[in-house]
Amino acid sequence: MTNSEYAVWHGLTPMGPHLRENGPDLFLVSGAGSHLEDAAGRRYLDARSSMWNVTLGYSCETVKQAMTRQLDVLPSGTVMRYEHPPQVTVDYAAALVALLPQPLRHVRFGNTGSQMTEAAAMLSRFYRRMTGETDRHTVIALHDAYHGTGPLATALTDEPILHDYSAPIDGHVVHVSTPPPVTCDPDACTGECVRPVLDAIESVGAERVTAVMFEPVSGTSFLPAPEHYLETLIVECRRRGIHTIADEVTTGAGRVAAMSYVERLAEVPDMLVLGKGLSAGYFPLAALVVASDIYEALADPPVRLGFPNGSTTDGHPIGAAAGLAVLDILTADGFLPAVRRRGAELVEMLDAASQADPRIGAVRGIGMMLGVELRDADGQLWSLRDVHNLRGVCREYGLLTSYASGVMPLLPHLTVSTDDCRELVERFAKAVAAYRS
Ligand SMILES: Cc1ncc(COP(=O)(O)O)c(C=O)c1O
Repeated sequence: MTNSEYAVWHGLTPMGPHLRENGPDLFLVSGAGSHLEDAAGRRYLDARSSMWNVTLGYSCETVKQAMTRQLDVLPSGTVMRYEHPPQVTVDYAAALVALLPQPLRHVRFGNTGSQMTEAAAMLSRFYRRMTGETDRHTVIALHDAYHGTGPLATALTDEPILHDYSAPIDGHVVHVSTPPPVTCDPDACTGECVRPVLDAIESVGAERVTAVMFEPVSGTSFLPAPEHYLETLIVECRRRGIHTIADEVTTGAGRVAAMSYVERLAEVPDMLVLGKGLSAGYFPLAALVVASDIYEALADPPVRLGFPNGSTTDGHPIGAAAGLAVLDILTADGFLPAVRRRGAELVEMLDAASQADPRIGAVRGIGMMLGVELRDADGQLWSLRDVHNLRGVCREYGLLTSYASGVMPLLPHLTVSTDDCRELVERFAKAVAAYRS
């Protein structure tokens, strides 16, 4: 099929080179467990959970049945305006906040992670307008961050090429160019770990900064930010009156074997963004969870104006029903410890593969959010292009993966079986062996 005959235009893909280099797309027609089947009858093991969001595999009956039941009783609804939120959405919000650290207590619903990271930054700015700190509008985001796309979300994402070609974008976002430390010893901490962020705040002027946004585990490097680093960051921002926003679109809802990464911190950020796994990828669902003091300050604002951010399908009852079913699964006895154990098992298998092929390096990440380093004979990490090309070879070996610079992301669903892990590692190792051999 030639480019011009193809009606689908992928989100972030240059279609010409994509179709020339990869050949025709494979059209998925069915899925069960970890596996997908295309229109030509080929089977693939999905090691990327679609777009890191299908956290319970493709045949989770509990979620499917909850959605079907909801479809029968109230198939649509909204929390965008008016006095009639769907009951299931109200119940879902209550169930969700009960699983998050206090004082994160109020939920704004949306459909995508990008919508909600943008909403978080806008909400911080709106709060400043309403509370009289009208100079505070700069948002600081961290090195290599991915926070989605959109007028403000693209600005928050640290990919300069996206900024160049999406220009003009929001001009009040600053990126800290130094990556967070890989380790951090709380006993020896002098606070220097957050110095690059504090320097950025100082250079803008603390009185002009409204928020700092961070991903607890980078979806680019797959290196988790040390807990003490994040705690220090939150404390230092709070001291300066700056909001902290944790973007847990990928890490939240089970991916790191916990409901949220921030639950392990001694300090709680002011806002938390969730997405992807919230509905196990069965419905477009994302959430911005806000601390009570922000909600209280805006409940009776000096100007009679609600936060002007929302869309028709926010709080959709089918998404809420899916979300409630996912929470039931995540909170079932032993579920999250099992994710942790299965993740560790997968790491062990990858370590064994690394013994056999030195190009397969160390495994980064946490829970079921893993990135395997790929290294040349001289120890250099592979380029983004090489990992991208390896992804194509993996596909030939029946394995669907993402790609990142120097690391191959492996994010199968949370309940992936031991056999499927074994199959994943075998196919991956074969693809690495075949690549440039
Ligand atoms: C950390 C993070 N934030 C935000 C987003 C954007 O979410 P969405 O693609 O649902 O708009 C993503 C998506 O990959 C993400 O990983």
